[in-house]
Amino acid sequence: MQISTLAREMPVSPIRNLTPLANEAKARGIDIIHLNIGQPDIETPREFLDAIVEAANETKVVSYLDSAGYLPLREAMSGYFKTLGFTYEPDEILVTHGGSEALLFIFMTCLNPGDEVLVPEPLYANYVSFTMPHGVKIAPIPTKQENDFALPPYEELVPLVNEKTKAILVSNPGNPTGAVMTQDELDRLAALAKKFDLYIIADELYRELTYDGRTPTSFAAMPDIEDRVVFVDSVSKRYSNCGARIGCVASKNKDVRAGVLKFCQGRLAATSLEMMASIALYKMGNDYFDQIRKTYQERRDVFVDRLNQIEGVSCYKPGGAFYTICKLPVKDAEAFAAWLLSDFSLNGRSLMVAPAPAFYMTPGVGHDEVRVAYVRDIPDLMAACEILEEALKVYPDRT
Ligand SMILES: Cc1ncc(COP(=O)(O)O)c(C=O)c1O
Repeated sequence: MQISTLAREMPVSPIRNLTPLANEAKARGIDIIHLNIGQPDIETPREFLDAIVEAANETKVVSYLDSAGYLPLREAMSGYFKTLGFTYEPDEILVTHGGSEALLFIFMTCLNPGDEVLVPEPLYANYVSFTMPHGVKIAPIPTKQENDFALPPYEELVPLVNEKTKAILVSNPGNPTGAVMTQDELDRLAALAKKFDLYIIADELYRELTYDGRTPTSFAAMPDIEDRVVFVDSVSKRYSNCGARIGCVASKNKDVRAGVLKFCQGRLAATSLEMMASIALYKMGNDYFDQIRKTYQERRDVFVDRLNQIEGVSCYKPGGAFYTICKLPVKDAEAFAAWLLSDFSLNGRSLMVAPAPAFYMTPGVGHDEVRVAYVRDIPDLMAACEILEEALKVYPDRT
């Protein structure tokens, strides 16, 4: 027996594939600072945990709920979106198991095998896991750290479209870069979508995490393209609730909703207690967001400044999310990330980072870059920088 070609060819996650080395290091007694994964350390709001207990106390049978999602949750989501100026009604929202399932269902609904989706690069590596099973190819829109990961001008976007291109997928604020798109960039992509009749898949999980007073930009707030926009949200990041696995697809396009609903029905329903408890999240006030924004911005400021003080390191100062891309003075970031776990420690601690090549579809790019997530407190982030600095001094394969 053999597993499928798809399973064999599916790339391993760059975020998790060094986990065995991290586990071995932990078994040797080394404390690993995990900057490889976007798992926030900020406490999940008490309101959610209390609501879980309340939902459990009121439940005798944990039954399937509506395949489209528990209606009171969709009402709460709609109410929250309206505070942002998005006009999604409860029946225009389908609850999914996180943004991940939302993306999987969107690709199965909007694209055919052989179709292409344009995505700014570097890109969230798991996009490959949502496109590849369905035979969809990612066509990268190249962006560069030297240029603050800004999109190319419209004239350079046009030649990237061909007869197979069916959609544009954008993570804004971006994972892995933390770059926040300007309204001008959104307008450029909207113009491209209108000219070539493309869907816009707006992955806006990190929307509330923008810094230095930036107002988040959103495709959901652009009425002239509302029929093309397929919007993705999730409680994972801004509510520090990755394990709840609650997200949604929202769209004004009724054909898209009808398609996504069929896939929702195929998996019956999203998790009941988590849907019930997530209502409390969508009712949280601005104070909560102000607080987490302040925390991440403070971390970003000290972390990025300190990283840039390390000889040979060049790190982008992101405007949003909680990631950044760092160029390191090494030949091969994958080998360096593995070496950190297998061969290096400082005062009993080491560091796990995500090598960047898997965030690029363009071969050979990102070989000297890593993605780091500032999802630890400032003392840990400072310790991580010290580990990196000392490690780079003795790493044998430095450039
Ligand atoms: C840009 C982006 N989209 C989607 C996801 C999926 O998140 P979840 O399935 O937890 O909602 C992530 C997770 O890191 C992400 O960074």
